[in-house]
Amino acid sequence: MESLKVELGDRSYPIHIGAGLLARADLLQPHLRSEQVCIVTNETVAPLYLAQVENMLGKHKVSTVILPDGEQHKTLETVSVIFDRLLELGFSRSCTLIALGGGVIGDMTGFAAATYQRGVNFIQIPTTLLSQVDSSVGGKTGVNRPLGKNMVGAFYQPRCVLIDTATLNTLPERELKAGLAEVIKYGLINNPAFLDWLEQNMAALLRRDASALTKSITVSCQEKATIVAADETEAGMRAILNLGHTFGHAIETAMGYGEWLHGEAVAAGMVMAADLSWRMGLLQQEQAARAKRIIASAGLPVAPPALTPETFVRYMAKDKKADQGKLRFVLLEALGKAVVKGGVDGSLLATTLSAGPRLAAS
Ligand code: NAD
Ligand code: GLY
Repeated sequence: MESLKVELGDRSYPIHIGAGLLARADLLQPHLRSEQVCIVTNETVAPLYLAQVENMLGKHKVSTVILPDGEQHKTLETVSVIFDRLLELGFSRSCTLIALGGGVIGDMTGFAAATYQRGVNFIQIPTTLLSQVDSSVGGKTGVNRPLGKNMVGAFYQPRCVLIDTATLNTLPERELKAGLAEVIKYGLINNPAFLDWLEQNMAALLRRDASALTKSITVSCQEKATIVAADETEAGMRAILNLGHTFGHAIETAMGYGEWLHGEAVAAGMVMAADLSWRMGLLQQEQAARAKRIIASAGLPVAPPALTPETFVRYMAKDKKADQGKLRFVLLEALGKAVVKGGVDGSLLATTLSAGPRLAAS
């Protein structure tokens, strides 16, 4: 087992990574504050892993909320189901919520924990690659609105992140690939050596080689933990974690939540960011093309769906990095070095938005 720490003073917390951790009650027990524990999961994950998590909780008064599955259910209405269940159960401020599932469950459970009785204990047990390498770490919680993704939420850190890598054995292939988009992101923004490693090990990751997956999760979580410790509430450098997300969130929202998976939209968005970086003279064309090749090698989309530039701009204006309507982008100065920039030339942006399959190709 690997154990990392997100350093946030008295709110610091561990990330445990390994196969079989859903049998390790000892890792979970120290983070419970009372007998009142509620596991929040969904109808897909419950039959697979709920019993194992219940077994870990032994004598506790364990309750469960089983939500419908899908990004389209990441709403305030669904979070209200959690609130109502906690109230019915008479759960008090000392209760603990456990998120068991992917990023959708993690983000909603975290938001419920941040707001139920103004804040209760919260533990993440992520079961998708995407949630293991990204969403379970760092305390961003929230829900979507029809006009914008993740537009309502709170920063609220978990007490512990428990990653059982064996849960990836049941993950559909499309979801595995979506998770690889966020893994590649860490190489592109901050870690060129990891990017080299990913190029050499992509086939192993795609065939779910256990040691390759564990390494990719450990490096990703370490990268994220370091950035979150330096800038918890995204006053500055944490924004680089959003490489590809300005384009990606526009794709997800415009296409209808759940149509393009988050990781797929981020993949195409990262190719768009590399393309724009090249057109702005920040990144060499060969490097933009290499970024595109790595993303393609994970079986991910490297071009957006056929949205008009006007549609892109309309949805991108809702981006949380935009300041009073002025767009800001995470761009690449090199593979492994991200920067955040505003004031992007509109004609260069329009070229990227309409390049389609010609992105990052001269
Ligand atoms: P998801 O939560 O929808 O899970 C993907 C699918 O896999 C679902 O159908 C789920 O039921 C199923 N599943 C989960 N674990 C499984 C397992 N072990 N075996 C079989 N099926 C399993 O999607 P996701 O990709 O995990 O998360 C995407 C969400 O995360 C988006 O809403 C995105 O906005 C959010 N996100 C948040 C952050 C953050 O910092 N909070 C970061 C990145 C993404
Ligand atoms: N996924 C972006 C962040 O956590 O900041």
